Amino acid sequence: MIDTVKKFKIWIITIFPEYFRPLLDCGVTANALNGPNGLALEVNLVPLGNYTFQKYKGIDDTPFGGGPGMIVRADVLKNALDCGVVNAGNYGGSYRDKLHIVYTSPRGKVWNRDYCKEFSGRVWTENASRDLVFICGRYEGVDERFLQKYVDEEISIGDYVLTGGEIAVMAILDSALRYLPGVLGNRESSQKDSFEDYLLENGQYTKPREFEGVVVPEVLLSGNHKKIAEYHLAEKLALTKQYRPDLFLKFNKLSGKATQKVGNKSGKD
Ligand code: ADE
Repeated sequence: MIDTVKKFKIWIITIFPEYFRPLLDCGVTANALNGPNGLALEVNLVPLGNYTFQKYKGIDDTPFGGGPGMIVRADVLKNALDCGVVNAGNYGGSYRDKLHIVYTSPRGKVWNRDYCKEFSGRVWTENASRDLVFICGRYEGVDERFLQKYVDEEISIGDYVLTGGEIAVMAILDSALRYLPGVLGNRESSQKDSFEDYLLENGQYTKPREFEGVVVPEVLLSGNHKKIAEYHLAEKLALTKQYRPDLFLKFNKLSGKATQKVGNKSGKD
């Protein structure tokens, strides 16, 4: 559990700090970071552009050996880490033991439900003595020497290339914060999420009972909790089989069932 007195810090080194305003200012993540629950978390944005050297000015340069695009300089990143994180956060000379440095890039381990849960358990709990630093990559990449020397973990959010790491950092933080106790109003809700049991969530309905001629399934109005639970499970199985056959196979394998006889809404196999 996170220490409620000491603030656990998240540092984000980026050339576009403004990208992060919605995450910090809106909705569930904003409440988690600033709300009355008083979660002991603090996010610090470190604008990479503030840490360039007079002599070179830019944050990036052309790649040795040729090739397209520009590479973010290792010395500028190190300057941002030293001054914008280590000095600003008073981590002192032994900062490597106090910081967990994450770089978002397409070559990282691919983020999914299991990884998110494992990461959250690791960074928000037993390892909470280490604050988190995210390095957002840009352009054609970051000088390999910085990555080799300073980065502890590389994370990809999928097999496609973004123009920069900011959106990846937001996706990682948004999904990982949901596993932090107290972030979601109803503690059960992350347990009911799609993927939690390798099944997609069942469809949900609210008022009105009839919408454009379509009525809410009768069983949901019955008040019979056993029947409702059976209906939800059947829906979860059918939706998973239809939309994510790969997950459906995983579910069957894990639940030890060779085959699951469920309806297929699309009528296709
Ligand atoms: N930066 C560029 N593409 C990315 C991806 N797929 N995941 C994480 N960071 C990235």
